[in-house]
Amino acid sequence: MRRKLVVGNWKMHGNHRANAELLAGITAARPFACDVAVCVPFPYLSETAVALASTDVRWGAQDCSVHEQGAYTGEVSAPMLSEFGCRYVIVGHSERRAYHGEGDQVVADKAKAALARGITPIVCVGETLAQREAGETEAVVKRQLSAVIHALGPCVGEMVVAYEPVWAIGTGRTATPEQAQAVHHTLRQQLRAATPRADDMALLYGGSVKPDNASILFAQADIDGGLIGGAALKAADFVAICRAAG
Ligand code: G3P
Repeated sequence: MRRKLVVGNWKMHGNHRANAELLAGITAARPFACDVAVCVPFPYLSETAVALASTDVRWGAQDCSVHEQGAYTGEVSAPMLSEFGCRYVIVGHSERRAYHGEGDQVVADKAKAALARGITPIVCVGETLAQREAGETEAVVKRQLSAVIHALGPCVGEMVVAYEPVWAIGTGRTATPEQAQAVHHTLRQQLRAATPRADDMALLYGGSVKPDNASILFAQADIDGGLIGGAALKAADFVAICRAAG
């Protein structure tokens, strides 16, 4: 039986005071029956590491460079994230793909750069509404995942995959449990063809997960937890979602 994982993606939200309150609310609710992590904006990694150091709540970042160092203004490398104790880094979020032009190969290279430094990449895949309506969902997510599978080779089993339908992100419109499970099953099958570890890998669902829909989503056979946006910014909601995974 796979252990569930719930990850908060804070996106570009937070400030010193709000972060401290949120992290205090999460840590006060321990123990959890699932693995729990928060992926915070770069400037807050240090304080997050301090706040969570003596707990089993993990932390990570929301992006990393494909490069280890060099003249790449504004970039943050995997070795730097490693110095801050990051356990995870999100790569290929649809907001990065849409607003920063990240293609499948760049996402795959970021996943590889993270793993090279012992950081687990949470690789996001997902279709737009137009792609879903055109019947392209399966082809799109398989193409996105395929690039990462090829880049990681024998290390494929070490990543986490997050299925986030773009039309469900921040819209309040969640995929139905059946829709989400169908895509997760497709992804699991693709992973099975690539690694003997596919059945141990965490496949997360993301997109308007809330306390009232988390249980039914997490009960699906191939959904091993969630990548949570808006609801990860309120301790009570995030904790309720973590409880739904336990
Ligand atoms: O990465 C999490 C995300 O994109 C989902 O956001 O606000 O719909 O939970 P939200």
